[in-house]
Amino acid sequence: MTQTESKTIDTLLEETRSFKPPEDFVAQANVKDPDVYQQAAADPEAWWASWAKKLQWDKPWETVLQWDAPYAKWFVGGKLNASVQCLDRHVAAGHGDRVAYYWEGESGDTRVLSYAEMLAEVSRVANGLKSLGVEKGDRVTVYMPMVPELAMTVLACARIGAVFSVVFAGFSAASLRDRIQDQEAKLLITADCCWRRGKVLDLKKVSDEAVAECPSVEKVLVWHRGDGIESQSPAQERDVTWEDVVLPQSPECPPVSMDAEDLLFILYTSGTTGKPKGIMHTTGGYMTGVYSTSNLVFDLKPKTDVYWCTADIGWITGHSYIVFGPMANGVTQVMYEGAPNHPGPDRFWELVAKYKVSVFYTAPTAIRAFMKWGDEHPAKHDLSSLRLLGTVGEPINPEAWVWYLHHIGGNRCPIVDTWWQTETGNIMITPLPGITETVPGSATKAFPGVEATLLSEEGKEVGVGGGYLVITKPWPGMLRGIWGDPKRFEETYWSRFPGCYFPGDGTKRDDKGFFWVLGRVDDVMNVSGHRLSTMEIESALVDHEAVAEAAVIGVPHELKGQAPVGFVILRSGFEADDALADTLRKHVGTLIGGLARPERVLFTPELPKTRSGKIMRRLLRDVAEGKVLGDTTTLADPGVLESLKQGYESKES
Ligand code: PRX
Repeated sequence: MTQTESKTIDTLLEETRSFKPPEDFVAQANVKDPDVYQQAAADPEAWWASWAKKLQWDKPWETVLQWDAPYAKWFVGGKLNASVQCLDRHVAAGHGDRVAYYWEGESGDTRVLSYAEMLAEVSRVANGLKSLGVEKGDRVTVYMPMVPELAMTVLACARIGAVFSVVFAGFSAASLRDRIQDQEAKLLITADCCWRRGKVLDLKKVSDEAVAECPSVEKVLVWHRGDGIESQSPAQERDVTWEDVVLPQSPECPPVSMDAEDLLFILYTSGTTGKPKGIMHTTGGYMTGVYSTSNLVFDLKPKTDVYWCTADIGWITGHSYIVFGPMANGVTQVMYEGAPNHPGPDRFWELVAKYKVSVFYTAPTAIRAFMKWGDEHPAKHDLSSLRLLGTVGEPINPEAWVWYLHHIGGNRCPIVDTWWQTETGNIMITPLPGITETVPGSATKAFPGVEATLLSEEGKEVGVGGGYLVITKPWPGMLRGIWGDPKRFEETYWSRFPGCYFPGDGTKRDDKGFFWVLGRVDDVMNVSGHRLSTMEIESALVDHEAVAEAAVIGVPHELKGQAPVGFVILRSGFEADDALADTLRKHVGTLIGGLARPERVLFTPELPKTRSGKIMRRLLRDVAEGKVLGDTTTLADPGVLESLKQGYESKES
């Protein structure tokens, strides 16, 4: 680690504020006995099995865990269906009338769906999928906005054993196409349109562009958003509509009994190379992981809580903590279609007050935006229903944490800062809200049954200090591999420290034993809580005819945490001006999606390279952060850096 990085860490570790769980919270907490950690550590398999037993199995498992590192099989021989855990179980127990989702559209239209209604709708969708020839093991790509039909769709796939793969609706046609091609999906399910910040997004148009290059797709099932908005893309022969395929179906569909290790879904995430990885999650272990963590971390009380996770189902947070975890617990949720500042910067707080939300889970990037928009917006609303707050997706700076506690949590709500990943499936490092004394900025301790530690560069365990976070024992919700690329699975996660899972995060441990996850140690950046690969953005830049070479780095950003900045060498004949920089930024947005659009594009005649031709991104980061330049002796041409620095600074002023 560089000097400046360790300075930041030391500042972080000087954090002395700590917050005990309030007594009235402890009194009602789902878990209040700190012994839970020792009990789980003494026999992790028995601990996880005790949670799995709370699910409804068609056939019990024979073996809890078969571990042939890095390949795990959990609950071997057991059979269950994921949708049954989320729906049938609650209806059979007499809770069919309980609200599953209060849905709120961005333009103010609303819907309320009970668990019984969700079961009927999911069954209709499942029957519709069967009528289109979808069978167990087939891949179904889902490109939909945040509407109840998205949750219904993934649950319907789970019901018939189809493998679903949700692609976030902000991704471009090319990103959607790549994912469909990689998984060879038979069906694409999309919507015609949705709202985002008062604008209409034409998802059908993007879908049509993507599917034009996807021969595996036999049909495109289109759900109509309504609300006076319509796609501009003409109907295609392969299109079928929700009205025709789903609505006439029977509201009953027997669930397929799945093997615990049958694939439930594939979700793509960025890695260090240009190609996103299709992370695979299976049925029994994933359900056990999300069910147990939802229950203990969010302290869910299905009879009384109204839980709202503001993520999108297009990301893992939405899979685990909007669909499967909370629904397996049978809790009532709020689901919201749109942006936090539309029509006004108090939209979230208006919704919290309206639905009396009690447990609220969001991202640090959103909290920083709320801080900037002003304290008066939450202050206008009655937030007294809130009793627990959570964050996820990126490190939370202590000031944002404390602001969240004061202005949203009324100084009474515990905060759970939850560290985990697409790959881990469920929350891994987190406070337990009735037990853990929290410190702003630290995700604190591993969840019971999860074994985490820090290793040095050489693989030695680090007690107090900085190192690489690793998970030393298998856990039920862990990824089972990368779709179509077992070698990459072994290399990416299991080769850096053999036998340990390596998530790729630099982390510090303090003298209390608390973890402080600081950020990625690879060429992955975290922009507003979303993972982006520098290589993917570089490829998008180089795709433009004006670009000869490009290097991308993530620079610190007040709101987004990190923001991509591109350094570009132009081909001869192209003029390095602001208009071209803007065109290139937009080009990245078109190729990947708006979230990847670089904050800035800077032109340079050269890039800092080693003598063997490797771009030294570390030095580019130093330039962008205005740091004293580190060791430049390995550079082929040290002069490059000085001119880059001048160019960067002159653009900044
Ligand atoms: O760097 C860590 C960061 O987000 C990465 C995982 O990104 P993704 O797979 O998109 O999943 C995000 C939602 C689970 C991690 O490798 N990260 C996530 N949560 C935290 C975090 N960094 C610090 N603190 C967190 N609570």
